[in-house]
Amino acid sequence: MAGPRITVVQDGEELARVAADLVADVISAIPAASIVAATGKTPMGLYAELAARRRAGILDTGAISAVQLDEYLGLEPDDDRSLLGWLQRSFLEPLGVGDDRVLRLPVDGDLDTACAAFDRTVEARGIDLAILGLGPNGHLGFNEPPSDPKSPTRVVELTPITLEANARYWGEGAEVPSEAVTLGMPHLLSARTVVLVIAGGGKRDIARRALTGPIGPEVPASFLQQTDAAVIVDRDAWGEP
Ligand code: F6R
Repeated sequence: MAGPRITVVQDGEELARVAADLVADVISAIPAASIVAATGKTPMGLYAELAARRRAGILDTGAISAVQLDEYLGLEPDDDRSLLGWLQRSFLEPLGVGDDRVLRLPVDGDLDTACAAFDRTVEARGIDLAILGLGPNGHLGFNEPPSDPKSPTRVVELTPITLEANARYWGEGAEVPSEAVTLGMPHLLSARTVVLVIAGGGKRDIARRALTGPIGPEVPASFLQQTDAAVIVDRDAWGEP
């Protein structure tokens, strides 16, 4: 295994373009690709670029499907702060992916049983592409530290660092839900293609730890060092190329 391929880009525009080229390559090779797509700020330019390519008729997303990466627990079904709502607005709708082509994480009922069933379904289907961001504590999806390569799809307690980082998406005075469900690590680490996008000076320490530091559950993203993930990182997060 050669390890991750790290591309350092100048800014958000180049990050979006370089990452979109990789995503487009996967979709052209596998038109019915099964795709995991993170929410969060970092991949938004990438999703806008993909939507622009679709509108221009140079990217056909008509057969792709999506597997949900993470979701808060305890929200009303129509709360537009849900991660599914965010995914719909930023990725699914702009790329024309209808509800029938989205595998949603379970958010109620017997979650242990439902998460185990979800894992079996995802395992049978396989993930062709995982588009991931890097959490401030090294999380992937909501696989909070400690998470190891075998950590399954499950309910997680969000750590204070994640709650603080995500507060900016919740609006004045609102409390970020402290429980969530996340797709498990094995699906992310075994995706045929992983594209990890990282941007901003605030990610500098964690980006270095994840990609060059010791590999272990305290930095879940460090397990990507054992894969050939494509990492697109901007200069602010990586330092000068
Ligand atoms: C969200 C997700 C998270 C984010 C990460 C980085 O679906 O999977 O792991 O990717 O927290 O978020 P941003 O890009 O907002 O810094």
